[in-house]
Amino acid sequence: MPVDIQDPPTPEIASPLLDWYDRAARALPWRSPPGAPPPDPYRVWLSEVMLQQTTTAAVAPYFHRFTARWPTVAALAAADDEAVMSAWAGLGYYARARNLIACARAVTALHGGRFPGDEAALRTLPGIGRYTAAAIAAIAFGRRAVVVDGNVERVVARLFAVETPLPAARAQIHALADSITPDARPGDFAQAMMDLGATLCTPRAPSCLLCPLNDRCDGFRAGAPERLPVKAVKKPRPERRGTAYWIEWDGHVLLVRRPARGLLGGMRAFPGSDWDGAAGATGAPPVSADWTMLNRPVRHVFTHFALELTIAATVMKKDCKPQLTGEWWPISRLADAGLPSLFAKVAQTVLEGKGDVQPEA
Ligand code: ADE
Repeated sequence: MPVDIQDPPTPEIASPLLDWYDRAARALPWRSPPGAPPPDPYRVWLSEVMLQQTTTAAVAPYFHRFTARWPTVAALAAADDEAVMSAWAGLGYYARARNLIACARAVTALHGGRFPGDEAALRTLPGIGRYTAAAIAAIAFGRRAVVVDGNVERVVARLFAVETPLPAARAQIHALADSITPDARPGDFAQAMMDLGATLCTPRAPSCLLCPLNDRCDGFRAGAPERLPVKAVKKPRPERRGTAYWIEWDGHVLLVRRPARGLLGGMRAFPGSDWDGAAGATGAPPVSADWTMLNRPVRHVFTHFALELTIAATVMKKDCKPQLTGEWWPISRLADAGLPSLFAKVAQTVLEGKGDVQPEA
């Protein structure tokens, strides 16, 4: 007689997890409490876009400012691009902000100002990929959807002791997440998985003894769950170097715009060299002047490389306004320029070291 070999039954995860979430859910500004009706899709979408690559703590003040200034998707669609980009400054990954504006306008123009509730329609909108579509469908519309972010990936890899390294394990982890996602309360389930990953099933030192799933976790049973998920060995992050120019004239400093496409696209910036040269010696400065090279470079880590920017500074005489393309921005109002963090660090470094840079005689 043929032997019927079956997969082991999927452990019941949703019910103990949701019981835990009912007691331990984090109160976050974009959330409804456990079991309550879903929040406004606009707020869910906005928070999910902000939370891509960014922590809840960093996002909260931006979320409050955005929703106070633009309380609806129609209000955001009608906003000036410039105002939105400036309000986003400091959150990083600026393509998200450009997609945010495009998405608000698409929802207003094509969907009458209402977000669609199904994943396929959501995925046609700018900046909404597989994760974000699933999160909005589940959290804002109560639709069953498989929501897998970095925290959920870790929880699932441990629950099922997935030994395949990331990123190769992604499809397997998604299928396992699908196998435990319930039909009821999918939004709470998704957020419970995220909270478990953020508070107990943490990367380095998980609190397994407090975990509501420890009696059904293969990673815990096997010991050393912090080993999981296994990660493919990363290539070291390349180092790049460049120069930023601080050109001061009559209480103003010159700002330029980054090209619309690419890293920090469309954001205000200090003029500078390409970012691939040797420290302090890349290309010609934008104006002939008496340059002071500051001895404190600025370091900034991007996803694909680390950057060290040397700062060259000059103060032009009042009667020698250089003819350069850009905006002469009042130094006392630099905080309002919406500079991305890299250039905010450049400004801070120059202003802290003031006294090193003297006006030309
Ligand atoms: N990260 C991404 N989305 C989140 C959410 N809704 N709650 C908590 N953390 C999140």
